[in-house]
Amino acid sequence: MTLILCHAAKGGVGTTFVAAQLALSIAQRGGQVTAVDFTYQDALKLHFGLLPNQFAPGFAASQTEPLAISDVNLINGFAEKDTEEFLGRVSAAGLPVHAGDIVVADVAAADRSLAELLYERADLHLAPLLPDPAALASLTRLAGDTPISSREKTALVLNQLDDRRKLSRHSHHFVRELFEDQLIGTIRRDEAAPEALAMFEQLAKYAPSSVVLPDIENLTDAVLNRCGIVLAQDPSDMREAG
Ligand SMILES: Nc1ncnc2c1ncn2[C@@H]1O[C@H](COP(=O)(O)OP(=O)(O)O)[C@@H](O)[C@H]1O
Ligand SMILES: [Mg+2]
Repeated sequence: MTLILCHAAKGGVGTTFVAAQLALSIAQRGGQVTAVDFTYQDALKLHFGLLPNQFAPGFAASQTEPLAISDVNLINGFAEKDTEEFLGRVSAAGLPVHAGDIVVADVAAADRSLAELLYERADLHLAPLLPDPAALASLTRLAGDTPISSREKTALVLNQLDDRRKLSRHSHHFVRELFEDQLIGTIRRDEAAPEALAMFEQLAKYAPSSVVLPDIENLTDAVLNRCGIVLAQDPSDMREAG
């Protein structure tokens, strides 16, 4: 199992969005992906085109009745995440998924205890961030008293960049200068992202020319690289194969 933990210190910064788009992108390249929503909100599934009244199975139910959308195995881990059985299992052996899976976990900002537990098992921790003062200030709260620079598995993703806004440009420079390579990716702001959600459609289908999509592709390259994952299939091969 390769575990990619998506968790930020502040909500509303695109953690669920990044988790979903990354999972879809890795699956499109032929990776065996499981995306787990650990949040009460249950919004991850919306990025896959599911409706609010359509539910992904828990870990146990997914063994017998898995739900795969666009080749991503979807699980809602909220009900199981605080049980003794689950916590024991994670500490001892990792998440209850297929051994070869690349797992993308969406953890709510407030759920520090689960984030820390999964961080121990994670290959990479992605922390999305917005170019706004409250999100930047939340960086000091990301890992308790531990500075981000000493958290080797933590990588920042600056989301919703807009070069027309001065604060956005300056934030980008600031974060790049302060964290250098720990800033693993940037994603531009595009209204099509929330619009796709409102239409209950996947972004790639709703807005195939969205500027967000090439940014996600670059992020996927960087993430796979950091995790040492080489996938047999790349998107260009798939296009050739039709
Ligand atoms: N790059 C982006 N451009 C425009 N809107 C975005 C972008 N990333 C996320 N959003 C929107 O911001 C809102 C919050 O994102 P979400 O992933 O739910 O945040 P979190 O999980 O951190 O609370 C959603 O409506 C989402 O569609
Ligand atoms: Mg969320």
